[in-house]
Amino acid sequence: MNFTNTETIQKQKFRIRNLLPEIGIDQARKEILSGLTNKKKTISSKFFYDKKGSELFEEITQLPEYYPTRTEKSILESIAPKLMNRNSSFEIIELGSGDCSKISILLDAVEERNQKNLNYMPVDVSMSAIENSVTELSERFPWLQINGYVADFIHQLGQISHSDKPRIICFLGSTIGNFAKNESIEIIQNLAKGLLKGDSLLIGFDLVKSEPVLHSAYNDSKGVTERFNKNILNVVNEIIKSDFNASDFEHRSFYNSKKSRIEMHLVANKNTLINSPLFEEPIKFYKGDSIQTENSHKYTISTIEDMLGNSELEIINIYTDPKKWFALVEFCI
Ligand code: SAH
Ligand code: AVI
Repeated sequence: MNFTNTETIQKQKFRIRNLLPEIGIDQARKEILSGLTNKKKTISSKFFYDKKGSELFEEITQLPEYYPTRTEKSILESIAPKLMNRNSSFEIIELGSGDCSKISILLDAVEERNQKNLNYMPVDVSMSAIENSVTELSERFPWLQINGYVADFIHQLGQISHSDKPRIICFLGSTIGNFAKNESIEIIQNLAKGLLKGDSLLIGFDLVKSEPVLHSAYNDSKGVTERFNKNILNVVNEIIKSDFNASDFEHRSFYNSKKSRIEMHLVANKNTLINSPLFEEPIKFYKGDSIQTENSHKYTISTIEDMLGNSELEIINIYTDPKKWFALVEFCI
């Protein structure tokens, strides 16, 4: 996350723009402060993704216990040839793009005759994720026009300029599941408002499955998820100049079956006081107090359908894997 560098990096076939300074660091500080001073303490999961956090997430995606990435990739491989060659000229916008391994599966399937008119726009709050993926993609796919945005897809989508080519908006990884139910419905309905006839929206949803499988995906034996969770405290320290010590907190992750979601928390292992120049007084943690850092909702096809409400969206394809662990749902208007 970089709230100050407004430099635009421009090369012949790619450009990176950082829009975060327009939101400003004060907004991030306010958001963190409000979460930490709530009765139920929270830190928004978007603060996981500094350089270290993005690296740790990439490591998570390669863990044997973390099934979502390899499952979604297997679905992408099977649908890519058709999806990528429906139109001879189009644009892909990817929200929360992370590393470029998923989009590469789609790009590998673009037939030569369709390559010259394809634009790709990754959008992510992580500067390092955008820089790394744009650099790698421009080497692997020299024919591709790439416009990368370091931006918040909740508040800044309106600023992502696009042409009048048909678009595929990709929101992969089940990142939608990291938002509260009402927020995720709002995201889908806002995306729907921006769609034109001929555009499509492809969203990855992690599906409900047995509790042990879910539990171990978020409690891996190498402790990578634990490090990912604790790293959020370093990101917070950097932004609000606080003095959280990650070793004073334990990683806790469990499946809440009533709410169909994994919850991740950091639980204080002793009484501790946290200081920051932004606090009126230190924030007190008693042993056992927790900060919730993430929800990761798990869906059924029927809960996905319910999210459409009375929007104009229609589901045109539901792609799943043989075990029905993950669904890629294609919507259009
Ligand atoms: N889509 C990739 C990455 C998923 S991790 C995959 O499926 O593997 C979630 C990604 O969303 C991270 O790269 C994170 O930086 C990004 N992200 C989270 N909240 C965001 C927000 N509000 N705006 C933009 N990017 C966000
Ligand atoms: C990015 N997001 C969909 C991941 C998930 O599974 O909810 C983040 C994550 N948290 C712990 N492990 C992975």
